[in-house]
Amino acid sequence: MSFDLVLFGGTGDLAWRKLMPALFQAFRHGSLPEGGRIIGVARDDLSDDQYRELIESRFAAVEGAKRPSPEEFKKFASMLYFLRMDLSKPGDYATLADTLASRNADTVVMYLATAPALFTQVVEQIAAADLNTPRTRIVLEKPLGHDLASNRAINDAVRKVLSEKQVFRIDHYLGKPSVQNLFALRFGNALFEPIWRREHIANIQITIAEDLGVEKRGAFYDQTGALRDMVQNHALQLVCAIAMEPPINAHADALRDEKLKVLRSLKPWTPETLGLHAIRGQYTAGTAYGERVHGYKDEPGIDPQSRTETFVALRAEIANWRWAGVPFYIRTGKRLASRDARIEVNFRPTPHAIFRAPAGAVNKLVINLQPKDGLELHLLSQAQDNRKRISGDAAQPLASVQLDLDFDKRFGSERVGAYERLLLDVIDGRLNLFVRSDEQEEAWRWVEPLIDSWGSDGGPRPYAAGTWGPSASSAMIARDGFAWSEEQ
Ligand code: BG6
Repeated sequence: MSFDLVLFGGTGDLAWRKLMPALFQAFRHGSLPEGGRIIGVARDDLSDDQYRELIESRFAAVEGAKRPSPEEFKKFASMLYFLRMDLSKPGDYATLADTLASRNADTVVMYLATAPALFTQVVEQIAAADLNTPRTRIVLEKPLGHDLASNRAINDAVRKVLSEKQVFRIDHYLGKPSVQNLFALRFGNALFEPIWRREHIANIQITIAEDLGVEKRGAFYDQTGALRDMVQNHALQLVCAIAMEPPINAHADALRDEKLKVLRSLKPWTPETLGLHAIRGQYTAGTAYGERVHGYKDEPGIDPQSRTETFVALRAEIANWRWAGVPFYIRTGKRLASRDARIEVNFRPTPHAIFRAPAGAVNKLVINLQPKDGLELHLLSQAQDNRKRISGDAAQPLASVQLDLDFDKRFGSERVGAYERLLLDVIDGRLNLFVRSDEQEEAWRWVEPLIDSWGSDGGPRPYAAGTWGPSASSAMIARDGFAWSEEQ
């Protein structure tokens, strides 16, 4: 099978940070179909060779084992091409059409790694140049729009030109090995499903913490903020993966139907919950890994008066039989104390205690997304203190122990990264791990009251870089009698 992958935004941040490294890994693993072309598209004036040099120079920043050797890069580079395009000019799409016709590949993937404001225009121009053939697939990066109306406008424009099965709305969190494992854990094993419900689960905590600041993406981020950048998409998709009902099969629409039901069941915001259950913050100067770092407002590209949030903590509820009353706490932010993404399922305590246990110790399943990738099952066990056993102390306290499954250790280099996996899925036409337009719209609908209410309030709360966000986030969860895991 031959393919052409057209990368709009071919010299942009996403292309070199995520997409090229992922494409290279796919090439190294022998998973990219032979004879494919990767055509970078941008306004820059570059020849194919100059583009290859640019990508090679960027690979110098890739960590150790993932960096190509010069020989490997040479082979990979033979797939790379460059096309200069001004995305507003119809004539440039005609040139693209000629380039694609010269190969007539079985599959043509158009990857829109550009600013979302350009999506509608690009999609319309693709149609005007007759590039929307049955062989065409389109990949849309997040955030798709900046609110429900703009999201709908993009989806409507896409729908006029391509059928839903040709549209791959990417959310790279769905491609993370640990998220696929969550589906496997829940729907490939009978063990957890009977207790995966309100009768046994006290609360669920989803943390996506980043230690970095906004880096070089200040201008983009200041228009976006943590809610649109991380919650509307990544965090809500994790909520879906945890809360969805078992799908009838593993086909894309069966999965997406169940995820949609979760999004539809999210309790709508009220004036009261908007005040109590939605905390946002913005980092000020602080310390990260022993070094002084700037506050958000002093980062390049940021408006010194900015009210953009770099941290969000929410308390959500899912109004259905399985989850009624179970709080789902979501938090994400930049410049937090560490890079740590995980989901914690906290089970209820025993109904009657005959042992002494450390305060707050309960059974807990932790799904580690990164930097570690694996599962931890926290159990309470008899503390192994022989002196007490000899003295026959019946009230010996229990201790928390963990069954620790480290997928990195178990599967090591065979692990396929999120973007690698998803790019191969697009080339092969597998939609399971991509987001349908109705899911996306429902997620926007749920976050929109937050956007509206934040437009006119006192602004985000400050938190020092290198901490876990504003203290109001801990207070929010403490009101329910729980604590974030690092405070337990
Ligand atoms: C992206 C966001 O979608 O996800 C970035 O735009 C964020 O702001 C990134 O840094 C986090 O991805 P990961 O895979 O590093 O957790």
